[in-house]
Amino acid sequence: MITIKSRREFEKMARAGAAIAAVHEAVGEAVRAGVSLLELEEIGARVIARHGCTPSFLGYLGSYPATLCLSPNDVIVHGIPNEHRLEEGDILSIDAGAVYEGFHGDAAITIGVGVVAPETQRLIDATREGMWAGITMVRRGSRLGDIGSAIAEVGRAHGYGVVEEYVGHGIGRAMHEEPQVPNYGTPGKGLRLRVGMSLCIEPMFNMGGRQTKVDSDGWTVRTADGSLSAHFEHTVAITPEGPMIFTADREPMPVGFEEAPARG
Ligand code: MF3
Ligand code: CO
Repeated sequence: MITIKSRREFEKMARAGAAIAAVHEAVGEAVRAGVSLLELEEIGARVIARHGCTPSFLGYLGSYPATLCLSPNDVIVHGIPNEHRLEEGDILSIDAGAVYEGFHGDAAITIGVGVVAPETQRLIDATREGMWAGITMVRRGSRLGDIGSAIAEVGRAHGYGVVEEYVGHGIGRAMHEEPQVPNYGTPGKGLRLRVGMSLCIEPMFNMGGRQTKVDSDGWTVRTADGSLSAHFEHTVAITPEGPMIFTADREPMPVGFEEAPARG
């Protein structure tokens, strides 16, 4: 079911989104060579609690064991925080979800650890660009295919593998609601967007092929060819005043800004 949110409900989602933005700021700040993923997990959990929110991921599907998904290097999404320590030149996707009074926010960024290779930075930048190309299409009257095709076009132009098995999604009272929002599509096709909808836009681009595999833990999704992967995500709502990003750096941000914030 596609849910239409009221103004009051969107306000709650914005509170959850602000907590996620704060998680990205605090965890991103702590990312350096030598830090363990578990140390970053603890920071994320503290920030969510301090914002009066509860984590969306912990216990998801009865089994996800952590507050954050931390996905280094060839891990595309759903990496489980563990004792592993980051090294200079690694990249890390930091994905977090929070609930405020029953309403969710969900967002991810990918950042480098110290100095990364220029081609690695290009992957990160292109994936963020893909997310913004998708976000720009989130507005009353456009269609799901407009979002997916805009994202895929950016990935394709750079020669990256655009992951298809994992997709964006509606969000509200549940973290994952209908519709699914694929990172591919045909312009002008698919569900027409209207006021009250909220979507997570989340491209995953691989340096190599688009194929994926899942570790024996049942969660960790990696590139099949071992190449690096980047992931960005924002929670975007079509409010009566226009599209707003609830997980943007400081406060809900109206879409229409030409320039993406540095961290995305
Ligand atoms: N942020 C992810 C998404 O957009 C969800 C993480 S899966 C979980 O779908 F198990 F960690 F919750
Ligand atoms: Co999501």
